[in-house]
Amino acid sequence: MSTTPIPNHAGADALRQSAADHLWLHFTQMADFKKRDLPIIVRGEGCHLETADGKRYLDGLAGLFAVQIGYSHGEEIGEAAAAQMRELPYYTNWNYAHPRAIELAQEIASLTPDGLNRVFFTSGGAESVESAWKIARQYHAARGENRWKAIGRDIAYHGTTMGALSITGIPAIRSQFEPLVPQVAHVRNTDRYHRPEGETEEQFTAMLLDDLEHRILSEGPETVAMVIMEPVQNSGGAFTPPKGYFQGVRALCDEYGILLCADEVITGYGRLGAWFGSEKYDIKPDLMTNAKGLSSAYASIGALVISDKVAEPFLKEDAMYAHGITFGGHPVQAAIALKNLEIMKRLDIVGNVARNQDAFRDTLATLTDLPIVGDLRGTGYFYALELVKDKDTKEGFTSEEGKDLLQNFLSDHLFEAGLICRADDRGEPVIQVSPPLIADQGTFDEIVGILRPVLEEASERVAKLPRHGGHKLVAGEQSALG
Ligand SMILES: Cc1ncc(COP(=O)(O)O)c(C=O)c1O
Repeated sequence: MSTTPIPNHAGADALRQSAADHLWLHFTQMADFKKRDLPIIVRGEGCHLETADGKRYLDGLAGLFAVQIGYSHGEEIGEAAAAQMRELPYYTNWNYAHPRAIELAQEIASLTPDGLNRVFFTSGGAESVESAWKIARQYHAARGENRWKAIGRDIAYHGTTMGALSITGIPAIRSQFEPLVPQVAHVRNTDRYHRPEGETEEQFTAMLLDDLEHRILSEGPETVAMVIMEPVQNSGGAFTPPKGYFQGVRALCDEYGILLCADEVITGYGRLGAWFGSEKYDIKPDLMTNAKGLSSAYASIGALVISDKVAEPFLKEDAMYAHGITFGGHPVQAAIALKNLEIMKRLDIVGNVARNQDAFRDTLATLTDLPIVGDLRGTGYFYALELVKDKDTKEGFTSEEGKDLLQNFLSDHLFEAGLICRADDRGEPVIQVSPPLIADQGTFDEIVGILRPVLEEASERVAKLPRHGGHKLVAGEQSALG
């Protein structure tokens, strides 16, 4: 990466001051930046980023699980955007079409699993989730049923607009905004680490499906419009589905007439080593939400992909999905997404993940000897390390200890050591690692080379914490977490 200063750069401190005065950061305690410098990212190349202070970082989080092709394609994608700007800078998808939206819809339909053939464009993930819930409600209404509820999973994140937030299962970011949109129920996620020892995968799957069925029945199946789940749940730390899980979820949805939505905002476009998680786990969703990787985050574009089954009542005379977004299918955003998909195919980005995912896991697995690393889980280029106080008992941290470890120690130390990844405490404390999909063995080694000494130091700090005698669960006992 070039180290020459950005032309006309006003200087890092001046930028920081201006940010402090005017820029409202997302999910950020802004007072923190009175104590430490706000990082200002000024450019990127490959898997790396550079700050206004000239420091280089490995982006172990692909932006926000989004920059599939890395940061070096601005030139080519910029040309596609500029060409579209010259030809048609904007027009709407309300009653009109334009070539890029049509081409992109066709391209998405060709990549998504069979039966998912229609694409409604949005500006991002939360809008895709909103659009899914709304179309599910209207689909049932069109068939003469009044179903409005959604079922999501504990700790799952689906976005922050009111509908998406209502589906999100993280109390800490919901409670300030209650009452939320009626009505959402949350079921157990696929966190296996905290299940009783000796429980088989089949038993685990059966327990999860029982929980879902019980919830559907207690809500009243005739009121439930949609079940929405990520193929691999991000929040809580890369919870992969056990064998048979999604087949069971599909069967329950079919039995009770509920639509199944796969939230593929993160897992879509190669992150799991297949184009979609729905393909990898044979989910057969009725609806699929996309965003992030669709454009490698070079544009703010998302999509709701709709199955033939769900589309059917809307194709009848006088029927209309009563929903629209000014920027949905924006021609410049669509041109960018099309170029991204062309690059992904040309460079065989999904194949790169499929070929290297075992090596990625093996490299991360070298960290599991550390006393603080309780669990390594995930798939593709989508991993989490769960941190524990005591590996033998799986004892976790009190909320103060967890906060101190993640926010006061790990986030800062990892960043200082040159790695951007997420130390996340939305469930049990985890380090999330999810690099751009161009990453190779050199990238994996760099990630682990930074993680190891920082986690070693964290292990030493944690060794001094009091133990509260947590105990390992054995089959038959109930996990606190599910
Ligand atoms: C699974 C999932 N759904 C929806 C969203 C919301 O996407 P956006 O931030 O683009 O609104 C996210 C964002 O991280 C997500 O991870």
